[in-house]
Amino acid sequence: MHGIMVVKDEIVLAMNLEELLMSMGYEVVGVAYSGEQAMEMALDLRPELILMDIVLPGELDGIAAAEKIMSEIDISVVFMTDFLNKGFLERAKRLEPSGYILKPFNDAQIEAAIEIALQRREMEKDLLESEKRLRQLSSHLMETQERERRRISLELHDELGQALTVLKLKLSGVDRKLPEDRPELREDCEELRQYVDQIIGKVRRLSHGLTPSNIEDLGLSAALSLLLEDLTKHVSIETKTEIGEVNHLFSLEAQINIYRIFQEALTNVVKHAQASLISIVVKEFKDTLTLAVEDDGNGFEVKKGKKGKSTKRGLGLTAMEERVRLLGGSMDIWSRKGKGTRLTFSVPITE
Ligand SMILES: Nc1ncnc2c1ncn2[C@@H]1O[C@H](COP(=O)(O)OP(=O)(O)O)[C@@H](O)[C@H]1O
Ligand SMILES: [Mg+2]
Repeated sequence: MHGIMVVKDEIVLAMNLEELLMSMGYEVVGVAYSGEQAMEMALDLRPELILMDIVLPGELDGIAAAEKIMSEIDISVVFMTDFLNKGFLERAKRLEPSGYILKPFNDAQIEAAIEIALQRREMEKDLLESEKRLRQLSSHLMETQERERRRISLELHDELGQALTVLKLKLSGVDRKLPEDRPELREDCEELRQYVDQIIGKVRRLSHGLTPSNIEDLGLSAALSLLLEDLTKHVSIETKTEIGEVNHLFSLEAQINIYRIFQEALTNVVKHAQASLISIVVKEFKDTLTLAVEDDGNGFEVKKGKKGKSTKRGLGLTAMEERVRLLGGSMDIWSRKGKGTRLTFSVPITE
């Protein structure tokens, strides 16, 4: 059974409608005769669906009443009306109602409109549920990835790094035992030692690249500066930075997320923008950390969906968005072809 509310100013029509709905097997939880009454009743009874007349007596017409109700509770609205002029339609459309029933009303039309609205409601619920599960999954995957990177990084550093250091020491031992009159062997030995040194360097870089250990060693602010330096080392690009002291504002986990967001944003500039200038701002204002990455490069088309949500994005932008969401913050993209790109992140400070 679904709870339906009817809002209609003519009593006889309202009662007929109520009777009809009940004969179709729906539960009518209430009937209101004005917009004001509809509001009060809806907040009290919390029906799933409202059949809402548009022209109503009093201050609120059906569209205004629906807007207020929809801002308070999760509800579907089907508008009923004698006529739908352009003004009504424009206003009603913004609310994304689940349907319209136009005069002359007939039973089949009413039933179809209700069924479609209820079905759409179910589908939206399923969609929200699966979106929630995907979010959980992606945050779980990101955590797992971070943990795994950390494990491999430690393993490389501790196990492999140690083993190589021992190898180097042993080579020195061999070197000392070599007879004085065999300089070519000593040379080989020295060469081997240098080679081992190179491998040790490689392992260290690999290990550091896997996990942003700079955050723990130097703090987030310095780690971000180093990251920028590192990523722009081999490209000719001017950098401008304004990085405030933001260490200790976040848990280590959150700091890693912020670091990864920056890493992706900067990598995108280097990879796609062909920019000559990149500016970075990291600053604390009130209870929010603002991060901005701006370039004067190619820019790209930011596709927006109906409600301003992104539709078509690469994995990098999606991951950034997901990470900001995990931090409880928001991300804004501004980009124009030929003018450059600006990514802004606002993250509430938690510590
Ligand atoms: N700073 C930027 N300048 C120009 N184009 C960009 C920039 N950032 C992103 N883009 C565009 O957006 C697309 C999606 O980026 P992203 O989601 O990170 O995926 P990927 O980097 O793997 O292509 C890029 O392929 C590129 O075309
Ligand atoms: Mg990318």
